[in-house]
Amino acid sequence: MTKLLIVIASVRPGRVGESVANWFVPIAEADERFEVEVADLKELDLPFMDEPNMPGRREYTKEHTKKWSAIVDRADAFVFVTPEYNATPAPALKNAIDYLYHEWSYKPCSFVSYGGVWAGARAVQALKPTLTQLSVMPVPEMVPIPGVSGLLDDQGNLQGTEIHEKSAGGMLNSLEKWSGALKTLRQ
Ligand SMILES: Cc1cc2nc3c(=O)[nH]c(=O)nc-3n(C[C@H](O)[C@H](O)[C@H](O)COP(=O)(O)O)c2cc1C
Repeated sequence: MTKLLIVIASVRPGRVGESVANWFVPIAEADERFEVEVADLKELDLPFMDEPNMPGRREYTKEHTKKWSAIVDRADAFVFVTPEYNATPAPALKNAIDYLYHEWSYKPCSFVSYGGVWAGARAVQALKPTLTQLSVMPVPEMVPIPGVSGLLDDQGNLQGTEIHEKSAGGMLNSLEKWSGALKTLRQ
């Protein structure tokens, strides 16, 4: 089984990110190839990076870092549920990524991105240099959701369409393949 960590990037009160994750998480959970864990950065509540040592040394001094390190370490693959803020990633996500180093390495990732016409795609592109610096492989298949506010029902639940579900299936197939290949590099 591939251990898939789904990270909810937005920490804003009233965020749409939780609804987007609530749509995607059951799709991933229904796929028997994956064991799914969700990390909500709002719940984790990491402060701005406050470790005195370089993350690559893994000499963590704070309990919140040790907890985050264990979560990322046990994952084989990542899906970031991410909006874009001014054409770049939500700062809580960049901060959470920067906290760690080896825990990310040689694992694939993808994105359920959302927003207006841009569908969060610029945030995804902006995240890639950071992720590849950490030896995370962003797979090409992803789920971009443009016009996200128009897909929310009266209760604020995201009503994904067939094209979103197909994209999610393609993304999961790719993550599973890459995860198997990259495991050999982590041995
Ligand atoms: C600070 C800020 C900047 C934003 N910048 C963009 C943007 O560059 N592109 C875009 O498509 N939407 C942008 N939006 C609109 C977001 O797509 C929309 O508010 C979305 O719901 C944000 O995700 P969240 O609710 O999960 O935080 C921005 C929203 C905020 C709060």
